[in-house]
Amino acid sequence: MSLSLSSKADIAVIDSGVGGLSVLAELRQVLPHSSIIYYADSANCPYGDKSREEIESLTMDVVKRVVAMGATIVVVACNTMTAVAIEKLRKRWSDIDFVGMEPAVKPALLSSKTGVVGVLATTATFGGELYQHTKDEYIEGKKVVEVAGKGLVEFVESGRHSTKECEELLAEYIKKMLVMGADKIVLGCTHYPFLTNQIERVIAKYEKCKGGELGVEIINPAGAVSRRVVQIVQKRGLLIDLPYMGEIYYFSSGTDKQREFVAQFLNNNL
Ligand code: DGL
Repeated sequence: MSLSLSSKADIAVIDSGVGGLSVLAELRQVLPHSSIIYYADSANCPYGDKSREEIESLTMDVVKRVVAMGATIVVVACNTMTAVAIEKLRKRWSDIDFVGMEPAVKPALLSSKTGVVGVLATTATFGGELYQHTKDEYIEGKKVVEVAGKGLVEFVESGRHSTKECEELLAEYIKKMLVMGADKIVLGCTHYPFLTNQIERVIAKYEKCKGGELGVEIINPAGAVSRRVVQIVQKRGLLIDLPYMGEIYYFSSGTDKQREFVAQFLNNNL
């Protein structure tokens, strides 16, 4: 894959940091020939505990930048940005297609056998109207265990997500869901798919204690988001069928070290 610091592409993927790369990875599977801009607002990460006003204004700034680079489809690969700002973005840039993240609480509630679903997300995401409405619509007779994953984004952003400390913190969060009987765990933040192996280990340990498999499923909505992007790309007549891979143009608002980290993360995960 070639990396470059300046160029134009129709599709941009944005996030507060490296989390959106979990969405970019899915997108690359379905649109391998499209060039894509990736923008990480590393200088301001994490967003999750900031005020709504601050999240909104930071998101607007990021979108301004990628639109100036030529993006016409913006994938808001951050549940927090989506929860707070997506409606405003659509109003402000009516000629741009925005695809946001939505915690997969609907499919989780519809498919849960125990009737208990765990959602791991940021505080700002839980406060989002779309999330609340979706939950209210499908929750009847069921239960949602909401856990704010405080500290997890910081572990991923510093490349320390495979440490014992991170796994211990994660175990604390995931066990809160498992003890309540959750059989679906929704990843409501795009940084969390990078913690999937650790979450699986926590589940396996819990199952061992309980004496057998509990059929717990981890749900990542990135696949559904990618399929939506493909529909828009087709609608705009931008589907590319060339014998080579598209470029990834990555940007970070942070320090040189953070920019290097984004590049490294990109190379290791895509
Ligand atoms: N990737 C962002 C999300 O999906 C992380 C939020 C943050 O920066 O705290 O919510």
